[in-house]
Amino acid sequence: MNTREPMSSDHVEGQDLDTLWRRVIGRRSFLQGVGLAGAATLPGAVLPAVASAKSGGITKGDVAILRFLAAAEIIESDLWTQYAEFGGVAPGGGNAPYVAALQNLDGDMPQYISDNTDDELSHAAFLNAYLESKGAAPVSLEKFRTLEGSTATGSSGKRRLTNLLHLNVDTSWYTRYRSRENPDFGDKFAQAISIVDKPAIPVSDADTPPTTEVGQPPITGKAARRIQAIANTAGFHFAFIEQGGSSLYSTMALKATNLEVLRIVVSIGGVETNHFSLWHDKAGNAISDPLAPLTDPETGLMFRNFNSPATELTQTNLILPEPCDFIHESLPDCSVVRPAGITHNSGARAAVKGFTDDGLFHGQPPEFFKTLNKLADAADAARRHG
Ligand SMILES: [Fe+2]
Ligand SMILES: [Fe+2]
Repeated sequence: MNTREPMSSDHVEGQDLDTLWRRVIGRRSFLQGVGLAGAATLPGAVLPAVASAKSGGITKGDVAILRFLAAAEIIESDLWTQYAEFGGVAPGGGNAPYVAALQNLDGDMPQYISDNTDDELSHAAFLNAYLESKGAAPVSLEKFRTLEGSTATGSSGKRRLTNLLHLNVDTSWYTRYRSRENPDFGDKFAQAISIVDKPAIPVSDADTPPTTEVGQPPITGKAARRIQAIANTAGFHFAFIEQGGSSLYSTMALKATNLEVLRIVVSIGGVETNHFSLWHDKAGNAISDPLAPLTDPETGLMFRNFNSPATELTQTNLILPEPCDFIHESLPDCSVVRPAGITHNSGARAAVKGFTDDGLFHGQPPEFFKTLNKLADAADAARRHG
């Protein structure tokens, strides 16, 4: 029996479209107005009654899970905010040449980037507010917001938690999700593209061709190829981040005790997977006609055409997870998130390692890693009770 109480269709029809649209806009602009720092420290007094005492107490392990996830969402929010400043639909228009290059992957990229950013901000704000509603300490990484970041047009000039200028993007998700093997069985996967120490946003205005305009077709000049390589790197990085979130949430779900905490973990985790699916599709456009092959004239980074020839492990439109080994090899292959469920493969420490290897924390001091690893170890140690 469905016990949810959604708006009835009568109720929706009774409102004009403008009212409904304003509700969507309100949601979309709320977090931008508050800013992440404010959103992450909403006072308990403004909380709705959703986390009332009737939902019961949550265990120490549940708190540890939610605190690590809050940290991960703050990190995601920081990196996505940078992408939105340069490539989103943010006020000010971002960085036009970068936007144009992203739009070569898909005309809707700026909207997708802004929406993904909003989602991460909402995840971080919700998790911290929920923790507070349960009497647990929220997470703040504000003291580590010290990195300078890009100086290119579009930057807000704010200090950052994450660094998008020296990325080592792990692109093995591309082959992993096309394979019938599963890393939880010890299988390894080749990198689709070797992206080592590369920027995913323009480093400065030297990276942006002055003549490029939004909506222009792919361009052949040196400057255009440089900014396209940066946008392509971003395309693969978006998917890397979100597949990591999919695996992390799937793994944390198995440790949750309280049903409401489990609901939170699977509900946010589903959106991470939704994000991954979107970016998987867009990344494929960087490695197919008409953009590929493309070589960054400055660094030699190459995006070859993966459809020439197409194989089961390369074909760019095979974006839905291939069925793979799951639970036991004697069972039929199953289309699932992977890795998932094995702490050392996809738990909290694994997420920190993935982010660190990615270069996302380039420039952060040892204390930052100590803080993050402490949160991660507590989450990994959580066990389901009852
Ligand atoms: Fe998220
Ligand atoms: Fe995400």
